[in-house]
Amino acid sequence: MKNESTILGIDIGGTGTKFALVDTYKGEMITERFKQATPKPATPEAVSEVIANWMNKLDWSGPIGCGLPSIVQRGIAKSAANIDSSWIDLNVEDYFSNKLSCDVTVVNDADAAGIAEMEFGAGKGNNGLVLMITVGTGIGSALFWNGNLVPNTELGHLKFKGDIAEKYASNSARKKNKLSWKEWGNRFNELLLHYERLFSPDLFILGGGLSKNFEIYKDCFKISADIVPAQRQNAAGVVGAAMAVKHVGLTV
Ligand code: BGC
Repeated sequence: MKNESTILGIDIGGTGTKFALVDTYKGEMITERFKQATPKPATPEAVSEVIANWMNKLDWSGPIGCGLPSIVQRGIAKSAANIDSSWIDLNVEDYFSNKLSCDVTVVNDADAAGIAEMEFGAGKGNNGLVLMITVGTGIGSALFWNGNLVPNTELGHLKFKGDIAEKYASNSARKKNKLSWKEWGNRFNELLLHYERLFSPDLFILGGGLSKNFEIYKDCFKISADIVPAQRQNAAGVVGAAMAVKHVGLTV
């Protein structure tokens, strides 16, 4: 049922874009999670057309919270690894708000997923240092200290093994290099050990498309910190994007 807690959550990914109406008080989707391939090239214009279509289908004209795979500062995109470079320096909040005639809040996609997991999922009540890592087309990160987000950490872009981390251990890298789960799990373990050396987190939360397969590869992980899959798995992205509408003061 729609009420004032309802927000349309959108998770724009390098491969797929996900949509759901979300009850932001409960941190739950109130529709199914609809998915559509992200247009290629993923320009702001093409993506806003896809969003306008879904607003129509869902009969929605209220506020929107949107996760973007980019550094996002005060609504402005500052990087574009798996989306078109024309996003860079665009005020995405203004652009979408004008195109779609509604209020739009935009945050980094991994930060969005982290917001959902910290408030309602695997990180709930954890007052230490929590590092959520999302694994999909790229690798995203959301760092929390005592429940507060340190936005735009972009740990998938740390230099690692001669390139950046996401080229070595993302889901795209797993597919491209035809890695078995064990091979991928061992690679990801190396990356987790690196993150652990840098941040000494109390807890890692693994999100993104790969989190649903956690049981298959979890024995590869030889880290000291606890590691758990996101409770909302890949849906954390849409739920958190909607929740970011009220959290935006924290994330800029
Ligand atoms: C982007 C991040 C994003 C991550 C996951 C990376 O390539 O730079 O902003 O969070 O992919 O989508």
